[in-house]
Amino acid sequence: MKSATELDYHLHHLCIYDDQPRENMFPYLRWHHGITNFFSGNVFHVTGEGHSDYTFLGCGGRAYQIQIEAPPFQFEYERNWWRDHGKGYNHICWITSDARASMAQLLANGATEVMPFEEFPTYDGFVVHDPEGRWVEIMEYTDDTFRVQEFTHAPSGECGLEMVGNAEICNDVDLMVDWYERVLDLRVLERFDSDGDKFVVMSDRKYDPVGRRTLFVLQNARHDFEKSKADAHGAHIASILYQAKDVQRAWEDALWAGMKPLMEPHVDTLTGLLTAYLSEPCGNNVIMLTEHYAPGAELANAA
Ligand SMILES: [Fe+2]
Repeated sequence: MKSATELDYHLHHLCIYDDQPRENMFPYLRWHHGITNFFSGNVFHVTGEGHSDYTFLGCGGRAYQIQIEAPPFQFEYERNWWRDHGKGYNHICWITSDARASMAQLLANGATEVMPFEEFPTYDGFVVHDPEGRWVEIMEYTDDTFRVQEFTHAPSGECGLEMVGNAEICNDVDLMVDWYERVLDLRVLERFDSDGDKFVVMSDRKYDPVGRRTLFVLQNARHDFEKSKADAHGAHIASILYQAKDVQRAWEDALWAGMKPLMEPHVDTLTGLLTAYLSEPCGNNVIMLTEHYAPGAELANAA
């Protein structure tokens, strides 16, 4: 069996289930995002059960993107999730160098199958549950040229906005940090732990504090809006992470774009970072906005 390191895992996208993607992408577009790819119609990802409707969006950061996926979903397991959870953050996707070997490695390490391994025209892939039930999608590109396009790592707008990753709310943060380290080869960049609250900043092996600042945060539910969602949905993908050169300006731009306020810019007592929370207006999905942040240990290593 191949090891996690041999499988060369790296973070790729967050998928959002939403029934009106054409309308609902506009708050993102007005908030300095761009469309990196638009896949729809009968030419892409056609299966016996239908075809895709994917809109990929990026903002200022390299590599990490969001994907808005709309019904009718292609597979029964997707339709079941839509029935149970509705609009929401559905899965995180990792790229690997060998999807078939990845399936064996994940199933041997506590993951459970959601969608069996399948060969599509442009990639091989599958979906599993992590040990707390969040979906993990794995993709291996198999076409010479097909890729979801990337932006360069260049902050967007006068506020210098970048989308850098996502945060997940865990039932047991320590167990999940250990699992993602061992099984998907993530590493801990910084750990904030105080008064029972945990906020662990991780990334993949391609992390670069300047050129590819993709972050993956595991945390407990701290705020009321996080606790009520955890009560309703259990462990889940909680927020998209954004960083800005000017948080106040990014906050004002977000409100103008149609995002809704959850917590105004304030210094987070756990992380020490200037932080704000918003929700996008259509699915009430949470956005975490912080000041520019690149973990210090990594900056020292890169210097
Ligand atoms: Fe996906």
